[in-house]
Amino acid sequence: MSEFADILTDLKDHIQLMKEMGQRTVEISPEVWSAWTAPPRPARQVQAAVPAQVAAPPVQAAPRQPFRAPTQTVSSGKKVYTPEERVAGLAEIAKEIKACSECRLRENRTHEVPGQGNPHNPDVMFIGEAPGAEEDAQGLAFVGAAGQFLTKMITAMGYTRDQVFIANICKCRPPGNRTPAPDEMATCFPFLKRQIALIRPKTIVLLGGTAIKAILNTQVGVTRLQGQWSRYEDIPVMPTYHPSYVIRFERGGISTAAELKKVKRQIWDALKSVLAYLGKPVPTPKKK
Ligand code: URA
Repeated sequence: MSEFADILTDLKDHIQLMKEMGQRTVEISPEVWSAWTAPPRPARQVQAAVPAQVAAPPVQAAPRQPFRAPTQTVSSGKKVYTPEERVAGLAEIAKEIKACSECRLRENRTHEVPGQGNPHNPDVMFIGEAPGAEEDAQGLAFVGAAGQFLTKMITAMGYTRDQVFIANICKCRPPGNRTPAPDEMATCFPFLKRQIALIRPKTIVLLGGTAIKAILNTQVGVTRLQGQWSRYEDIPVMPTYHPSYVIRFERGGISTAAELKKVKRQIWDALKSVLAYLGKPVPTPKKK
């Protein structure tokens, strides 16, 4: 298949996904629109242009991916905050979360869990579902068993937990660690939205189905979307499996060792894709 056919197939796949995710319109810049709608150039000129375009840019040598990673930062026109504004803004949000009693999750929580880490345009912001028992006890995101696996993911990428930001869709623990209800997610989501606007991470990694549902506004599941780039508020978003999913496997629950290996590989591939986008080298794993 020619490179142009590949591009068209990718575009078709991408539009299909957007449609499934509920998107009904696409934004086209004036430049692209005028290029698309410009009258065709005379045949002579087209022929003359072809040889120059045939030389493939280096990216074309890479193996074909169903969706391409974003190649440039999109200028979002969003407000850029000073470090002081960010710190003050996040403190204000944390205060509001503490005072919030908008949903039933308030009733059983010990501590609210706003999220923590580097608020100053970190390379990566990780977003999970909601606090568990340990997070509820400490008021910190991802400090229990799932948090230990997340720490491994962060370390494998060459970061420390302090260099990234870690947060959840819901800021209070659902009783018995059940999945948050849609109204609980909807009530809490504005806090996260404001946090993202202040923090402006360079990329977002979504951990599991709840985060995917809330951020990408879709019913399409993690199995379909994991490893595929999306965007939220002009920030490149990489969905992957929730660390708890891996832990459930490891505790001997839900499937075979081969399946566990596959899921871990898929998570690592997603993280490597994030590193590639950020232009960071993939660290070599330390020998045990
Ligand atoms: N699971 C989550 O989604 N978030 C946490 O903070 C802990 C476990």
